[in-house]
Amino acid sequence: MKIAIAAEADAAEPRVAGTPETVKKFIALGAEVAVDAGAGVKSGILDADYTAAGATLTKGAAKDADIVLKVRRPTADEIKSYRKGALVVAIMDPYGNDAALKAMADAGLVAFAMELMPRITRAQSMDVLSSQANLAGYRAVIDAAAEYGRALPMMMTAAGTVPAAKVFVMGVGVAGLQAIATARRLGGMVTATDVRPAVKEQVQSLGAKFIAVEDDEFKQAETAGGYAKEMSKEYQAKQAALVAEHIQKQDIVITTALIPGRPAPRLVTKEMVASMKPGSVLVDLAVERGGNVEGAKPGEVASVNGVKIVGFLNVPGRLAASASALYAKNLLTFLETMIDKKEKKLAISWDDEIVKGTALTRDGAVIHPNFMPKPAA
Ligand code: NAI
Repeated sequence: MKIAIAAEADAAEPRVAGTPETVKKFIALGAEVAVDAGAGVKSGILDADYTAAGATLTKGAAKDADIVLKVRRPTADEIKSYRKGALVVAIMDPYGNDAALKAMADAGLVAFAMELMPRITRAQSMDVLSSQANLAGYRAVIDAAAEYGRALPMMMTAAGTVPAAKVFVMGVGVAGLQAIATARRLGGMVTATDVRPAVKEQVQSLGAKFIAVEDDEFKQAETAGGYAKEMSKEYQAKQAALVAEHIQKQDIVITTALIPGRPAPRLVTKEMVASMKPGSVLVDLAVERGGNVEGAKPGEVASVNGVKIVGFLNVPGRLAASASALYAKNLLTFLETMIDKKEKKLAISWDDEIVKGTALTRDGAVIHPNFMPKPAA
């Protein structure tokens, strides 16, 4: 059983899919591990750290691997170099990328998308959306603090008082909860909003104030999977009015609102941005999925009449060492379920909920129900 920790083809991706810690564990499970030279450098892991853990260092580690571990979906060139039948496990970004999925199927790869991990208790330690979103939520507040020309905590000094910054977190999933906790630790006065009613108590337990239109639609706005639903036009209008009133008084706004498989909901209009005081900062964590904030520019800090809109891409990658450590651990716990520990070889239970939930391609076809080609009408 050969496992490859492949370097990322995309220069904008500093994370890596394996760490010395996970290399050791894979070897203990009976695997041989090959790592692409330099794969961990941007996450602070040197080649020597991998070899000390027992890995072999190569170029093109994925070539003859049975299992290829990556952060991002492999490119067309990478796919060509993989062995037919190899397992490829990565954050596959499958929605709207049918051609790329077909290419992996055509190449005979068995591809797994880590972000499709079912949100069940057993799979919590494999949940990359959580491991990465938690870090993104933290980093969003750090980035906001860095762009904000004032202090966050209230400071009473001999030279005068600095008021506490008012921080508003929109969308309170994993990222939003960590953003609230981080902003509170830094001394901000925090309010938060979400469309899922279950969130209210969580916000309050973190010492922040919950703000939302709490009508009948709100009371049912959660899917069985715990995600948000797309809200009606009427609800969105009521929510916008509430937000418009609140946002003009805020110093920092962090937006994290997402709906699985859909564009991010637009929560902050350009009029709302214009209503904010110069020097205020918005951080849009949803910018890669279309953005929650009008005027957010992917990869940039936009400035609109003195208000900054931070649209950094790959925010977990801005904490590459932490993000890689947690992602590598997610991969390890996932693969552990597919390895027969006695025989020391791959033994995939295709009926397992977590396998069915994440498997995209197998035997030359796209097999995941969400992405299977639609039969002609
Ligand atoms: P997400 O990343 O899909 O969305 C972020 C947040 O945006 C969500 O809280 C969502 O309700 C909110 N949102 C969507 N539309 C909005 C709108 N129009 N206005 C305001 N907010 C809006 O969500 P994430 O972080 O993946 O978490 C979703 C849920 O799954 C949470 O309840 C979380 O606790 C739960 N979860 C469960 C796990 C498990 O049981 N294994 C693991 C991780 C999370």
